[in-house]
Amino acid sequence: MTKQRRIVLGVTGGVAAYKAAELTRLMVKAGWQVDVVLTEAGAQFVGPVTFQALSGRPVYTQLWSPDVSNGMAHIQLTRGADALLVAPATADLIAKAALGLADDLLSTLISARDCPLLIAPAMNRQMWENAPNLRNIAQLESDGVAILGPDAGDQACGEVGLGRMLEPEELMLHLEASFQPKPLAGRRVLLTAGPTFERIDAVRGITNSSSGKMGFAIARAAWEAGAEVTIIAGETAQVTPPGCRRIDVLSAQEMLGAVESEVDDTDIFIAVAAVADYYVLNPSEQKIKKDAHILTLELAPNPDILARVATRDKPPFCVGFAAESENLLEYAEAKRKRKHLPLLAANLVQNAIGADDNEVILLDDSGETRLPHGPKLDVARKLIAHVAQLYGKGKTK
Ligand code: PMT
Repeated sequence: MTKQRRIVLGVTGGVAAYKAAELTRLMVKAGWQVDVVLTEAGAQFVGPVTFQALSGRPVYTQLWSPDVSNGMAHIQLTRGADALLVAPATADLIAKAALGLADDLLSTLISARDCPLLIAPAMNRQMWENAPNLRNIAQLESDGVAILGPDAGDQACGEVGLGRMLEPEELMLHLEASFQPKPLAGRRVLLTAGPTFERIDAVRGITNSSSGKMGFAIARAAWEAGAEVTIIAGETAQVTPPGCRRIDVLSAQEMLGAVESEVDDTDIFIAVAAVADYYVLNPSEQKIKKDAHILTLELAPNPDILARVATRDKPPFCVGFAAESENLLEYAEAKRKRKHLPLLAANLVQNAIGADDNEVILLDDSGETRLPHGPKLDVARKLIAHVAQLYGKGKTK
């Protein structure tokens, strides 16, 4: 059984405190234990009863709390916690944390913590850009504190700019990432995801039912593992994971162009896209009109993006995918050899494409590793751990 996560959530005095209520709900829904610490100003925006109801636990507001057995809430609360997240964090709290001031429960907890500290700033754009605030942020970053956001957009005061707190869903992604090991820290990962679209005429084209779910889950897992990630994506509705750069393309030719312009400084290339094997020669500029005749399309083979990357002079560590409908291992291993890949992930197309779950067999020079069936993010995290291990051993061929 996995250990239950325990988070201490600090809430300071900003309008975004209402989003901290939703964040508490999401954390509890994820099965985490949440201890909320509310500053005096925070309680002006959302009362302790709301957080108590959402977390199902006492809410801490005082430095010297009679509810804590030895009166040492400022020490006890972060002991055994997985993270201390302050959301929203005002300029005042940020200044205190940067200076090491400890004059209330939350600032004292920050000083006495023995777990990672994550801070989600929320303030007016001028306050955010105020030189002392930016100095404090830089200080916290150099002290190893994770600064999450802020976002740009409409502000409660009516102004527009940088200073909005990240949305609760995005803060959840950052928290989950903070729990993951970082074997790819400092590495650059480039990956392709989703389908390609080969134009027939002004409105039609040839594509496939790849949803992009597998590729985007791997992008997220690589970012969680500390990598700098670029996704070259075919047409897909997937949301870009935080911290990942995304380049949208349509056809296989465009995907190849984007890969070639990005691949130079790449350490690891992961080809998850379902690339069309053929494109339509001479697509029509206009919509083709229907008539009584048989319509024949002339198709020509597309370039193999992965094979081109894998056969460069100094290739990155290349990972391929193979979606087969039969003879999975035999066809997949043949593909791995033909494309000169150190690692290939084989999946059954009927189980994998468009689905939320997947089951993957990894093939490398040492043989096969079966990853258990599960949500694509779980599969992606295990795949990334395997990639990091092989990459670390320098097995690039
Ligand atoms: O997007 P989802 O709905 O989550 O589905 C995920 C997936 C099933 C698409 C994915 O898990 C997967 O298996 N992708 C590879 C699909 C495939 O069968 O590829 P292939 O056998 O045509 O190609 C083998 C490898 O070469 C792949 O890594 C592919 O990206 C790459 N390739 C193929 C052709 C080409 N012209 N260029 C390439 O880079």
